Amino acid sequence: MKQVLLTGAAGGVGTYLRHELAGQYRLRLSDRVNIDDCRATEEFMLSDLTSLESMRKTVQGVDAIIHLGGYSVEGDWDSILQANIIGAHNLFEAARLEGVKRIVFASSNHAMGFYDRDETIDHTAPPRPDSRYGLSKVFGESLGQLYADKYGLEVLSIRIGNVGERPLDVRRLAIWISPRDFAQLVSIGLEHADIKSEIVYGMSDNKRAWWDNSNALRLGYAPMDKSEDYAAEILAAHNPDADHTLPETLQGGVFVTAESIPNPAKPVADDQV
Ligand SMILES: NC(=O)c1ccc[n+]([C@@H]2O[C@H](COP(=O)([O-])OP(=O)(O)OC[C@H]3O[C@@H](n4cnc5c(N)ncnc54)[C@H](O)[C@@H]3O)[C@@H](O)[C@H]2O)c1
Repeated sequence: MKQVLLTGAAGGVGTYLRHELAGQYRLRLSDRVNIDDCRATEEFMLSDLTSLESMRKTVQGVDAIIHLGGYSVEGDWDSILQANIIGAHNLFEAARLEGVKRIVFASSNHAMGFYDRDETIDHTAPPRPDSRYGLSKVFGESLGQLYADKYGLEVLSIRIGNVGERPLDVRRLAIWISPRDFAQLVSIGLEHADIKSEIVYGMSDNKRAWWDNSNALRLGYAPMDKSEDYAAEILAAHNPDADHTLPETLQGGVFVTAESIPNPAKPVADDQV
């Protein structure tokens, strides 16, 4: 079994992926908060993305990296700068220095959030970030392109919509991705023989999508779930009064107007940083 590093493993998406990838890879879990329920095929390393030295130790000896770690919502500039700009640079630089070639990067729909929901965009559309957070994801995608072009790394950036057991509202009928579909895309990123630097959208087979995900389909993605199964229930509970507001007409939703959003990441105890 390949050994794969999963950064941000203590977070919501990391927890889904650990479950989905169990038995397929030996996973080195890393986060700045502790994980104490490792499976037999998992090991844990406490590490901080803001330290290149810490990340060099963390990536040593793995075959590939799934980079989920960072600040996962809109926040103040320093939080985004440390976790997502400096953090992503440290991760890519550590991989280059330690000879790890393959990286799957968790980008976000918020790299493209200022597109209108009436538009259908593909992986070639110019970025239109909706937030400092979205901007940091554009940086991460470009970092992947630079490290592929200049140093020969192989990078799949997945512009994740929303990972969850089910879509929760009208917006997420367009962008939802089930944990098993997300794991399938991640596995393509880890295994596909022909990846240099690619961008795909992280969504299930959603009828109401705003994205043309032909690049993912070209790489062999065959989503098993579809948001339409939940549409009748979600639309019945939907209040159309708000439909003319920017968060309801633009792809990024509330991120297009918000200056900060509560961070879902677990708090860090003093003795763990
Ligand atoms: N949840 C989604 O549906 C979704 C949608 C789009 C993009 N994404 C991206 O996917 C990734 C995972 O999302 P999530 O929802 O699990 O986020 P999360 O906030 O639950 O988890 C992020 C993890 O990163 C860790 N982290 C933060 N700063 C760190 C640092 N300096 N050093 C080491 N670890 C650090 C946190 O402790 C946390 O466990 C993120 O990069 C996020 O931007 C997620």
